[in-house]
Parts: sequence; C-alpha cells; structure tokens
Amino acid sequence: MATATATPPDVEIKYNKCLIDGNWVDAVDGKTFETPNPATGEVLTRLAEGDAKDIDKAVSAARKAFETGKWPKMTATQRGKLMYKLADLIEENREELAKLETLDNGKPYKEALNIDVPLTAACYRYFAGWADKIHGKTIPINGPYFCYTRHEPVGVCGQIIPWNFPMLMQAWKWGPALAAGNTVILKPAEQTPLTALFIGQLALEAGYPAGVANVVPGMGPTAGGALATHMDVDKVAFTGSTEVGHLVMAGAAKSNLKRVSLELGGKSPNIVFADADIDAAVQGAYFALFFNQGQCCCAGSRLFVEESLHDEFTARLVEIAKSRTVGDPFDAATQQGPQVSLEQFDRVMGYIDKGKREGANMLCGGNRVGDRGYFIEPTVFDNVEDEMTIAKEEIFGPVMSVIKFKDIDEVAQRANKTPYGLAAAVWTKDIEKAMRISNSVRAGTVWVNCYDVFDAAAPFGGFKQSGIGRELGEYGLEEYTEVKTVTIKV
Ligand code: NAI
Ligand code: MG
Repeated sequence: MATATATPPDVEIKYNKCLIDGNWVDAVDGKTFETPNPATGEVLTRLAEGDAKDIDKAVSAARKAFETGKWPKMTATQRGKLMYKLADLIEENREELAKLETLDNGKPYKEALNIDVPLTAACYRYFAGWADKIHGKTIPINGPYFCYTRHEPVGVCGQIIPWNFPMLMQAWKWGPALAAGNTVILKPAEQTPLTALFIGQLALEAGYPAGVANVVPGMGPTAGGALATHMDVDKVAFTGSTEVGHLVMAGAAKSNLKRVSLELGGKSPNIVFADADIDAAVQGAYFALFFNQGQCCCAGSRLFVEESLHDEFTARLVEIAKSRTVGDPFDAATQQGPQVSLEQFDRVMGYIDKGKREGANMLCGGNRVGDRGYFIEPTVFDNVEDEMTIAKEEIFGPVMSVIKFKDIDEVAQRANKTPYGLAAAVWTKDIEKAMRISNSVRAGTVWVNCYDVFDAAAPFGGFKQSGIGRELGEYGLEEYTEVKTVTIKV
C-alpha cells in the first residue's frame, strides 16, 4: 500500500467568485473561505463566501431571468440545443475538469476522467433530449369543455449539492431544471466548489442567458439555509445528509412551502446468497462499498452473506481489500484516494473505533495511511450484528460490515430494519429469490447481480428517510414541472 505523495497537476484555478446574473462577483460582505486539497491538507485557493445577501442577489437575478428576457421566450428546442452545447464544452474541457475534481475532492484522476466526466456529459445530453418533449395531455372531461394540461417550469430553483460527486450532482440538478425552463441557484459543497464554478462559466459560453444558471459558493447553514428559507425560491432540491434534509424541509415549511426534493443518506443492504456467481459477487461487494473512497450514498454498507458461503466469501473479499492501492490520486496506479476532508476522516476513524469497541471482528485495515492528507486503509469488519453502530449509521468511508444470515425470510426482514431506503442489491442465480428480495426490500433502487449501475434515464432516489422524490429519468424531470389544467368552454 503506497503512501500519499500528491503530484501537483498543471491546472490553474480560474474561477473562485460567485456567478450571479452572468457576472463573476465577490461576496457582498467580502468574505472568503478556503478549499483544501485532501491529498495534502494544503489550501488550494480562497473563494468568495456567499451568504444570505449574495443568495438574495442571485434569487433576484434568477427571478428576472425566469420572467423576462431571452429565457422564457426561447423555444424548447433552443433550450435543448444550449444543453447539448454545454455537454460538448464539458467534453472539450474534460481533462481540466477532471484535474480540478481530483484536486478538490481527492478521487483518483482516472476515475474523475473516465467516470465522472462522461456521466456528467451523458446526463446533460439525456435531459437536452427531453427539452422539447415535455408536454401535457388533453382530457375528455364532462360537458362542453376542452380541457388540457401544460407542464410548466416550477420557477426559481435553489439547489444544494454535496462533495462526493460534485460535477455529477450538479448535472443531476441542472439537467432536468434547465431542460424544463427553470432558472437555478446552485450552492456547491464548501469542500468541493471548483468544478461547479468552471461549469457555470461553460454554461455562459454555451449561451445560457445571464441569471439562468447562478452559482453561489458558501457554507451550508448560511448560503444553503438562505436558499431553503427564501420567500422567492419556488423549489429547493437537496442532496446530502438526512440530518440536513430535515432542516431543508423545515426551512421550506417555515417560509413559503416551496417544493422540496431530497436525496439523502443510506445504509443499503447488499445480499449474497450461497448460490450466487461467487467471483462476480465478491467483485460486486468490493466495488459496492469501496468505490469513491466509500463516499457513496448508495454504498453497499450492510453486506449480508449466507452462512454456508460466509468463510470463503469473506476470505476472498479481505484479499482484494488488502491489495487495494491507496495513495496519490494523480498516480495512475491508485485505486483509492483520500477522504474528502479532515472532518470526514475523523468521522470515519471514529466509526472504525466504535466497530472495534462494540465487538465486531476487524479482518483488515483500520489505520491511517501516510502522515499527511486524509487516507484510510480499506477496512473490513466481520461478525457485525444488526444493533452495532457500524451496521446502523452511514459511515461514508472505506469500511465494510459483513453480516451473516441463514435464510431468505430472515434476511428479507433484516434488510428493512433501517430508517433508510435508498438502494439494495441481491446476488443469486435463483430468479425467485431475486424477485422476492427485489419486491420486499423498501428501497428506491434494487440491483440484481450488479451494483452501482447508473444511467441518466433510470430514476434514482429514496424510500423512507433516504429522501423525497426522484432524480434522473422522466420521474426526475417531473420534479421540475408544475402541472396546469386549462379548461375552455366550447
Ligand atoms: P451535509 O448534509 O452537511 O452537506 C451537504 C450539502 O448541504 C453541502 O452543500 C452543505 O453546505 C449543505 N448544508 C449543510 N448544512 C446546511 C443547512 N443547514 N442548510 C442548507 N444546506 C446545508 O453533509 P456533510 O456534513 O458534508 O457530511 C456529513 C454526512 O452526510 C456524511 O458523512 C454522509 O454520511 C452524509 N452525506 C450524504 C451524501 C449523499 O450523497 N446522500 C453526500 C454527502 C454527505
Ligand atoms: Mg456539514
């Protein structure tokens, strides 16, 4: 396992202010904050720190752009063309974007370049195609009337995103919102604001009119809170912790009952039956948890393994976990970079400590890697019980919990013993077991003999406290339209 020596990449940080009404501006109060490089702990740059006054300015700009000027007059096809253009510009700038993402977030450069950038461009293209296919119905109501529905944009949308997939989460928010004709104010995560600002600039270059797509970097309770509680914001979309999801919804309730969509945490069951394709299931379980430094809302963080397979399965899993290369995210051999921040590093190490103290059996990992940056060894706990903290709370790091089960009735019931319901997976060659679990699990996404298969066309979101509403696909688009019924006497 290598230690971290971060190669400084040849990339300049060009955008570090607020993007409001088509202009790059300092924060009203002149405040700034710093974003560190998680591979070294060193400061990358200082950025404008937006607060309530800056959100106010951005909301006014977005309101004006929504109601007057070029945007509401543009045809749906023109809106689609702008978004195709944005996707093209993202591809043209793929290396610069991937470098910024890796510097700011710590994810391996080859993943930023080959996963995050292509998925981001694909998401914009998918929603670009929708722009001129959003339409209502004609409804045969009783009487001498002609009745039809229009699917109109919701209006000014506040969007608050997390740091685990910064540029992709921006695409999940901007794609449907802009395709449907809304205007947006994005508040990127304070840990990872760089690619959001760069893509804000690309949106200007693509030809989005001033005020349509604004970006205000800043802190959660201040800039984020101002969006959630603003009286002139029509909708707030949030991705992040369940704890903050409650606050965002309360803010919407206390202010103007703005529409709320939430994509929150998870504690997803990944269920492996003894009759599974073992090679695929071992690889799948490893990927489901360790991908992206374990920082995935849908991570397969409760790995249920059927008792008769358990010993062999766990041994093979530990073998690959131990071979995982942790280190400099710009090194092509690196499979795992640092956690995003010192706060997250401490949090994950705290969970490792709890796992040990509560009696789980640590089979590998458990330590920091190197002496600078926020690197953690891939860690596997065995003999994890449902009531242990590491089986209940979202860890959001490279820490796996292996839990044994005896039969399908038992595991079907235990899988749902969580306040979360984001994703689940099942590994088996038996179609009946696969369907039984797919139907009974209370989660927004179920993968059968695969994991983390994402496509801009397939909806994603949570049951229970994993969220409200769906992102991606046609369902995601619906979250950004209001239905208007028009009835004409004929
Ligand atoms: P967080 O929920 O605090 O941050 C996510 C976003 O919300 C950021 O942009 C942040 O600035 C903003 N925010 C924070 N407080 C806010 C408030 N009061 N009002 C409005 N916006 C606010 O998540 P954090 O603290 O970065 O991570 C804590 C834990 O949350 C992680 O360990 C993980 O378990 C979970 N998480 C889940 C994510 C997901 O994809 N579902 C993504 C990030 C974190
Ligand atoms: Mg926070």
